[in-house]
Amino acid sequence: MNLFLVYIAALITGVTLVTGSYAPVVQTSSGQVTGLVNGSVNVFLGIPYAQPPVGELRWRTALPANSSGKAVDATDFGPGCPQLPVPNYGSVFVTSGIETLPVRQSEDCLSLNVWAAKNAEGLPVIVYVHGGGYESGSSNETVYHGIHVASTGRALFVSLNYRLNIFGFPSTPSVEGIDQNVGITDVRLALEWLRDNIEGFGGDPKKMVIAGQSAGASLGDTLMYLYKDDPIVVGQIGLSSAVGSLSATPINGSFWNAVASSVGCGNTTSKTKQVSCMRNVAFDALLNVSVEMVASFTPESDGSVILLDSEYTALGENGSFARVPALFSNVNNEGSLFVEPYSSAYGNETADEMAVILVCPVAAAASFRRKAGLPAWRARYFAVWENLAPFPEDPNVGAYHGADLPIALGTYKEVEKGPSSESEVALSKKYLDIWLAFAEDPWNGLASKAGWPLYDPSGKTLIQIGKYNTSQFTVGNATQYDYGC
Ligand SMILES: *[C@@H]1O[C@H](CO)[C@@H](O)[C@H](O)[C@H]1NC(C)=O
Ligand SMILES: *[C@@H]1O[C@H](CO)[C@@H](O)[C@H](O)[C@H]1NC(C)=O
Ligand SMILES: *[C@@H]1O[C@H](CO)[C@@H](O)[C@H](O)[C@H]1NC(C)=O
Ligand SMILES: *[C@@H]1O[C@H](CO)[C@@H](O)[C@H](O)[C@H]1NC(C)=O
Ligand SMILES: *[C@@H]1O[C@H](CO)[C@@H](O)[C@H](O)[C@H]1NC(C)=O
Ligand SMILES: *[C@@H]1O[C@H](CO)[C@@H](O)[C@H](O)[C@H]1NC(C)=O
Ligand SMILES: *[C@@H]1O[C@H](CO)[C@@H](O)[C@H](O)[C@H]1NC(C)=O
Ligand SMILES: *[C@@H]1O[C@H](CO)[C@@H](O)[C@H](O)[C@H]1NC(C)=O
Ligand SMILES: *[C@@H]1O[C@H](CO)[C@@H](O)[C@H](O)[C@H]1NC(C)=O
Ligand SMILES: *[C@@H]1O[C@H](CO)[C@@H](O)[C@H](O)[C@H]1NC(C)=O
Repeated sequence: MNLFLVYIAALITGVTLVTGSYAPVVQTSSGQVTGLVNGSVNVFLGIPYAQPPVGELRWRTALPANSSGKAVDATDFGPGCPQLPVPNYGSVFVTSGIETLPVRQSEDCLSLNVWAAKNAEGLPVIVYVHGGGYESGSSNETVYHGIHVASTGRALFVSLNYRLNIFGFPSTPSVEGIDQNVGITDVRLALEWLRDNIEGFGGDPKKMVIAGQSAGASLGDTLMYLYKDDPIVVGQIGLSSAVGSLSATPINGSFWNAVASSVGCGNTTSKTKQVSCMRNVAFDALLNVSVEMVASFTPESDGSVILLDSEYTALGENGSFARVPALFSNVNNEGSLFVEPYSSAYGNETADEMAVILVCPVAAAASFRRKAGLPAWRARYFAVWENLAPFPEDPNVGAYHGADLPIALGTYKEVEKGPSSESEVALSKKYLDIWLAFAEDPWNGLASKAGWPLYDPSGKTLIQIGKYNTSQFTVGNATQYDYGC
C-alpha cells in the first residue's frame, strides 16, 4: 500500500500547533491524488478516470486518463455530468428530495470517489453505479456516500459519474466520428482504472463487485453481457432494475435530429458536418433544448454496445453473460412514484402495472443465472420508515423506488428527517452486512454467513427484507410478486 502521510504543521500567532491533520496520498495513473480523512476512513473524491470528454471527444468512447505525473486534489466531489430535471418523468425524485441534482455541473465530469479504511489492505471493493434513468444523477449524493461501508474495514466503496442524456446516449444513426452509448463504456473505463489503481488504496482488484440501482443496475447488467469473458468484477448487485427495464429500441435519430434543427445544426450537407456543428454547441444549450423538447436520450440499440431486448433475452437464455454470482432485489412498491399525482409520464398505468417494468427483468436476470448454474439470490425490500418517507401522508407510496438504498448503505443517518427506530437501525446494520458478505465471498458468502437460500422460482427462496417494518429477513414464495411477468 503506497499510502503516505503528509503532516501539516501550522504556525498560528507565535504558537506552534501540530494540527494533527494529515492527508492520504496515493499514486495513480491519473496522478498523485491527495484525499482527506474522515474518522477512520481515507476519502478520495473527484479523481478523474478519463480524459475530459469535451471538444472533439464529445460523443467519443472515453479515453484513459494519461497524467501520471500530475497532482490531483481529491478533497471534493467532481462536478456532476450535465443534467436537468426531465419534466414529468422522474422529476418527483428531485422535488421530493430523494435525489438532488448536482449544483456544479460540467461536461468534464468523469470522476470517481474512493472510501477506504485507513489500514485497508487487499480488501474487496464495492463499485456503485448511480441511477436516474440515464438522464440524471451523480456520485455526489449523500445517500450514495461510502463512509459507512468503508468504516467497517471490510470493503472499499467506490462511486462514479458517467455521461448522461444526450452526452452519454446521442442515439444518432451511425456516422463516422461518433460513438454510441458512451455512458455505458464510461463505466467500463472506470472499472479498468480501478483494476489498475485500486491496490494503492487498499483494495484487491480481483475482488471487485459492481452494484447499482435503477439505471445503474441496468448498466451493470449490460456490462455483464458486453464484457462477458472479462467483466473485471467478480460479483453483481442489482437493485430495482436489469437489462430490459428501460427497453432498448433501434436507433432512429429522431430526437437527435430534432435537437440538431433546434440548435441550428439541422441544415448541413453531411452527417459529419452536422456532428461537428453539434460539437460546437455549448453543452448547456444542448441540454436546455433537449429538455424543452422532452427529447429523451437513453441507451438505444446500436448493435454493438447495446443490443435489442429480444437479443438480450436470447443471450440470457443461453447463458452468454459473465460467470459471476449475483444478488438481485426489488422494492415492494416499485411503481408508486411513477403514477399520478407524482408522475404523469406513463399514461394511465397503475402502480402495479408500472412495477412490472422493474420487477420482471430482475426476475428474468435471476432465472438466467440459475439456468446458467451461477449462484443468484433474489430479495424484496418491504420496510417503510416514517423518517425516510418522501410523502408520509400517502400510504400508497410505501417502499418506493430507491427506499432501500439509505438502509443498504447506512446513509439513512445523513438523510433521515427524524429519529430512526430501533428496527430501522438494526435492519440497516444487517443489510449492510449482507452486501459485505457478498463482496467478501460472492460465491458462498450469502449462504454461509447469512443462510440465504439460492433463488429457485419453484420454491420459497425470496428473501423478504424488513417485512412488517421489522429488522428481519424472512423467506417467501419466490414468484408470488411476479404477476404480469
Ligand atoms: C464525514 O462523514 C460524515 C458521515 O459520517 C459526514 O456527515 C461528513 O460530512 C463527512 N466529513 C467530510 C469532511 O467529508
Ligand atoms: C493525453 O493524451 C492525449 C493524446 O492521446 C493528449 O492529447 C493529451 O494532451 C494528453 N493529456 C495529458 C494530460 O497528458
Ligand atoms: C456536492 O453536493 C453537495 C450537496 O448538494 C453540494 O453542496 C456540493 O457543492 C456538491 N459538490 C460539488 C463539487 O458539486
Ligand atoms: C424513434 O425512437 C424513439 C425512441 O425510442 C421513439 O419514441 C420514436 O417513436 C421513434 N420514431 C420513429 C419514427 O420510429
Ligand atoms: C440551408 O443552407 C443553405 C446554404 O446556406 C441555404 O441556402 C438554405 O436556405 C438553408 N435551408 C434552410 C431550410 O434553412
Ligand atoms: C439553460 O437554461 C438555464 C436555466 O435552466 C439557463 O440558466 C442557461 O442560461 C441556459 N443556457 C443556454 C445556453 O441556453
Ligand atoms: C447464445 O445465443 C447467441 C445469440 O443467439 C449466439 O450468438 C451464441 O453463440 C449462443 N451461445 C451459446 C453458448 O449457446
Ligand atoms: C386515460 O384514461 C382516460 C379516462 O379513462 C382516457 O380518456 C385516456 O385516453 C387514457 N389515456 C391513456 C394514455 O391511456
Ligand atoms: C410500517 O411503518 C409505516 C410508517 O410508520 C406505516 O405507515 C406502515 O403501516 C407500517 N407497515 C406495517 C406493515 O406495519
Ligand atoms: C408461489 O405463488 C405462486 C403464485 O401465487 C403459486 O402459483 C405457487 O404455487 C407458489 N409456490 C410455492 C412454492 O408456494
